[in-house]
Amino acid sequence: PQVCWLAPEQTAGKQKPYMYTQGQAVLNRSFFPCFDTPSVKCTYSATVQVPEGFTAVMSATSWEKQKDNTFVFKMSQPIPSYLIALAVGDIVSADVGPRSRVWAEPCLIEAAKKEYDGVIEEFLAVGEKLFGPYVWGRYDILFMPPSFPFGGMENPCLTFVTPCLLAGDRSLVDVIIHEISHSWFGNLVTNATWGEFWLNEGFTMYAQRRISTEVYGLAYTCLEAATGRALLRQHMDNTGEDHPLNKLRVVIEPGFSFLLGVNPDDTYNETPYEKGYCFVSYLAHLVGDQNKFDAFLQAYVNQFKFQSITADDTLGFFLEYFPELKEKGVDSIPGFEFDRWLNTPGWPPYLPDLSPGEQLMRPADELAELWAADSLNMEAIEAMDITAWRTYQLVYFLDKVLEKSPLPEGNVERLSKMYPKISKAQNAELRLRWCQIVLKNNLEAEYSKVKDFLQSQGKQKYTLPIYRAMWGGSEVARALAMETFSATAPQLHVNVQNYVKKILGLEEAK
Ligand code: BES
Ligand code: ZN
Repeated sequence: PQVCWLAPEQTAGKQKPYMYTQGQAVLNRSFFPCFDTPSVKCTYSATVQVPEGFTAVMSATSWEKQKDNTFVFKMSQPIPSYLIALAVGDIVSADVGPRSRVWAEPCLIEAAKKEYDGVIEEFLAVGEKLFGPYVWGRYDILFMPPSFPFGGMENPCLTFVTPCLLAGDRSLVDVIIHEISHSWFGNLVTNATWGEFWLNEGFTMYAQRRISTEVYGLAYTCLEAATGRALLRQHMDNTGEDHPLNKLRVVIEPGFSFLLGVNPDDTYNETPYEKGYCFVSYLAHLVGDQNKFDAFLQAYVNQFKFQSITADDTLGFFLEYFPELKEKGVDSIPGFEFDRWLNTPGWPPYLPDLSPGEQLMRPADELAELWAADSLNMEAIEAMDITAWRTYQLVYFLDKVLEKSPLPEGNVERLSKMYPKISKAQNAELRLRWCQIVLKNNLEAEYSKVKDFLQSQGKQKYTLPIYRAMWGGSEVARALAMETFSATAPQLHVNVQNYVKKILGLEEAK
């Protein structure tokens, strides 16, 4: 069942069926026999025969179409089982760079090419400059059907992404930079256990923001990082800072029978991403020189490439690489002990300075203040022109509005009318925030937008917060949750279905 079989209605083109696999974290054991742990790596080859009119693609370094609709794939580098991935459907491709093409259903291929034509190579080149050679040959992107549960999945040679990235203005390209960054952190140097998932995601967030800084500058990157910090804040507020999942090293009880054990997917949250990012930023801060820290990252990748490691390996190598820091005992500075970072839940003891993004954040902060006032100062509001704002400035603004919600009676209706660019947005990151604001303010007039958004895509990080908000809301909101779920459940990935069932107090189908 973890291999996803989609009916034609569940695709963008609605003409032909589709199938795909999602391996991470431990789903590939139901796809093929394997040592389904990130601590084991191997090469693979696969022969896949598909019906006439279909194309198969895999996370492989080379492929060849033979007679009888048979595709032969080879991955010549050792990878962990979770990175083996297959998709079959009515898919076509278009070149977007010297070693990159986009794959999508025919009805999306134009949009896909337009979104990323000519931009991928620069990310790869900057990644290589910072972290060392890109060893995977090609970097292609497959646009998935709308129910794909993630923003992106770093399957080597062929990243799988949600079609929500097709915003028309490249505004969500940070997801691509993130998945590219996994080419070094995660796919080359891999966490040996899912309890140390932060080694994959925390280092990748850091690498993503290094590439972003080189390409888009520090101000913009700090703005994007501030929206990440807001996600960590929301997550810790929801779970309580002391929740055992809010430490970097998580205890995942092994299972010895079908009765025992924790599914690593159930431990998924913002902590490994954003607290992990803070810890890597803290290591950079200890070093105090960006060039030296970049050189360390490159040496780290070179030291552990094609291996699976633990945080002890990472931190041991860090102290070895910087003997003067080891001498100074930087691993045991009170309040910032490496051990505390790893094993104590809670808000990060160190936060990187995001003030270079101030010029982009301040207007958004001010505007959110204005909209939270009891009597609106429309003159001041109208004086602020948001037409030229970047998507992440709007996201940042909406997160602030959400933090201050519920707003005084009537304010959200006025906000909605004033900014159709927000309340009628097609951009998925904006739609997510708008749905959250609508729900927190009980704006029943716009509940249909919530349902529409949940019907249009099935990304876990969009779907679960919205169901949580509905379930924590009024009777009407709860009814909306039930009604939406019964309409959309069959379209959702089975993991996402089960998480929603948990939120709604429905029995988990096993
Ligand atoms: N590897 C993850 C996706 C994932 C994590 C799948 C755990 C299954 C289990 C991927 O690299 C990721 O983090 N995607 C993010 C992108 C974002 C952080 C820019 C996503 O999907 O939102
Ligand atoms: Zn990731």
